[in-house]
Amino acid sequence: MDSALQTHVEALAAAIEADRSAFDAIRPPADPSSLDALLDRQRTVRGRNSFLPFMGTGRGWGPFVENLDGSVKLDMVTGIGVHAFGHGDPELLRVAIEAAAGDTLMQGNLQCNQEAVEFVETLLGEARTGDSALEHVFPCCSGAVANETALKICMQKRGGAPRVLAFEHCFAGRTTTMSQIGDSAGAREGIALNLPVDYLPWHDATDPAGSLDRTLAALREAIRRWPGQHACIVLEPVQGEGGFAPAPVEFLRPVLETARASDIPIWFDEVQTFGRTQTMFRQTWTGLESLVDVVTVGKLSQVCAAIYTADMNPRPGLLSGTFIGSTAGFRVGRRIIERLRDGGYYGTQGKIESFHGHFLELAGELMREHPAAFPQVEGRGGPIELAGGCGGMMRLTPFGGDKARIIELVRGCFDAGVILFFCGHGPVHLRMLPPVGVLEKGHLDTAMRVIGDCIGAMEAAS
Ligand SMILES: Cc1ncc(COP(=O)(O)O)c(C=O)c1O
Repeated sequence: MDSALQTHVEALAAAIEADRSAFDAIRPPADPSSLDALLDRQRTVRGRNSFLPFMGTGRGWGPFVENLDGSVKLDMVTGIGVHAFGHGDPELLRVAIEAAAGDTLMQGNLQCNQEAVEFVETLLGEARTGDSALEHVFPCCSGAVANETALKICMQKRGGAPRVLAFEHCFAGRTTTMSQIGDSAGAREGIALNLPVDYLPWHDATDPAGSLDRTLAALREAIRRWPGQHACIVLEPVQGEGGFAPAPVEFLRPVLETARASDIPIWFDEVQTFGRTQTMFRQTWTGLESLVDVVTVGKLSQVCAAIYTADMNPRPGLLSGTFIGSTAGFRVGRRIIERLRDGGYYGTQGKIESFHGHFLELAGELMREHPAAFPQVEGRGGPIELAGGCGGMMRLTPFGGDKARIIELVRGCFDAGVILFFCGHGPVHLRMLPPVGVLEKGHLDTAMRVIGDCIGAMEAAS
């Protein structure tokens, strides 16, 4: 970039930074009227209420974000796992301003600029660990489209095989096809069902041996019943919407090797796990890279993508589309990957692992303070852990996993200044996807103190 332009970029970024660095703590609302008016307008155009009374002003700092009523919230959900470096990160802001000085806002399949290639190469550099054969990348604008891409690649490779193997409680996005793969009744309602999905039980941490036996039996039965008919087996290495449930290598290896023995392509959906666990790609943590044919990513990468081996490379005509991403998405996404890669986040001594450890300690304290709010929840082989997840995917299971009470808690915490969400199909869990890039243990302390206060208030009221 020419130096005169660079000077303006620096000045603009510095001015924005000065304006935002005041957002460094939770603040109560100043004036709810403008928020209420805008939420009303949103309700009218959307045809429904938004889940939380939130409408960002566009100002925020680190994990803190300003709501239109003047309140400042501690954001522990980050747009469902998108803002890894929180709000108003000074360096990402500079990169985005530079991107805005580019000639176009959007980039496409027919014509793109160099940053698209640089993003894709950086992403691929992180995907190719161990004996991974991943080689090509198709960037796109949503996790669901990345998943559609993966499915099309697998189907073509298998000569139009019509069936999919997936896991109970999985989530894959909201296109008509992905709604059929995702294991949620509401998402299938009113959809013409044209994709047969054979569901396998996911790993059950309360009964690991029995769980593996049941899954292998179901997989062998599906392969016996429909030989050569499966386009792929798709899995989230840590289930996201299904309840922040990781599966260990001891479970994944035999299951995936069984699929591989029948030439069924293996697709890791890392749209939610990407960047958030002990390794940037969860497939790296499993050490099963040689078995992986396709990986999809999204959310904190800013640009979504399907990554696949040379052997899966589809014939011309299968993949395209007008947009592949925005100029700022490519540039900021690349910096996010580089900063996560170089910033000491991964590995057993990495920041992400230590945040998770701290979260579990705080959860233990919370359960000791509020024992009545944490009754046992029975899994198939015994009680489940009431705090869990993996890395920057954190879950807590108060009130026996009762959905209505957990939603009440999410709303109470929002009013008290902490943005949270929920996951799981029963039990339901309180869910955090914090901004791991800028998180400090003190932010977790604050979030858990607010959760504790709100649990206390709910207990007192009942
Ligand atoms: C595992 C997984 N796959 C796919 C998707 C769909 O991504 P998007 O909402 O960007 O279409 C999600 C979104 O939550 C997800 O968690």
